[in-house]
Amino acid sequence: MAELDAKPERWRGLFRFVRHGTATFLYGARDAKRNNAIVLREYMTRIARAERLPGKGGCARDFLELDLVHEKLEEDFQRHQEALVTHRYSDARSWLKKFKDGLRIHMRHEEQLLLPLYESRCGRMAKIKGFKTNVFVLEHSKIMEWLSRIQTGTRGLRIGRAATPRAVISILDLECTFKHLIQHHNQREHNILYPALNRLTTKEERADLLRSCMLGSAVSRRV
Ligand SMILES: [Fe+2]
Ligand SMILES: [Fe+2]
Repeated sequence: MAELDAKPERWRGLFRFVRHGTATFLYGARDAKRNNAIVLREYMTRIARAERLPGKGGCARDFLELDLVHEKLEEDFQRHQEALVTHRYSDARSWLKKFKDGLRIHMRHEEQLLLPLYESRCGRMAKIKGFKTNVFVLEHSKIMEWLSRIQTGTRGLRIGRAATPRAVISILDLECTFKHLIQHHNQREHNILYPALNRLTTKEERADLLRSCMLGSAVSRRV
């Protein structure tokens, strides 16, 4: 436990998953009562309990938790592509819609809660550095525009009939550009926006905002 206390970077990534879902800890030791999996499970439980106690020095929340929403959305898109290349077009369309709905909710949280806060707390500094929040908003519009193009492409695929390889390839080409676009956007949020919000907010504000940002998000839909 002392080792885990000393090196939070080792378990923080895992804790992001534990906090929002169910985790299964596996072990290969002979002793079922004393092994690393048990220690880790107890540690995660302790941290989660501490976090629920207001004013008791609980683990501070971090905007990088929103990476988890990005990851879950990426997984929906991956499912869409898997369905597409195996000619399950109805599934491909459903996964794409689910992805788009989740992404829209996430973008709304960013545009209505996070970006205005960022702007109000460091608007002047951002302007001096030549960095504006509307860059993120413009990227959101561009991402949604590409997504609509992909949806139009998938509408032409008929259930029960294998599409021509060219039809699928042209959709995958569109998706390749789209994936670069969204990965670049998410990376910028991970490197710039979320760390800046961590610096500009109090522990209580972070807890409130993250609670709102997880509502109806790709993460809360699955737990
Ligand atoms: Fe965004
Ligand atoms: Fe985001």
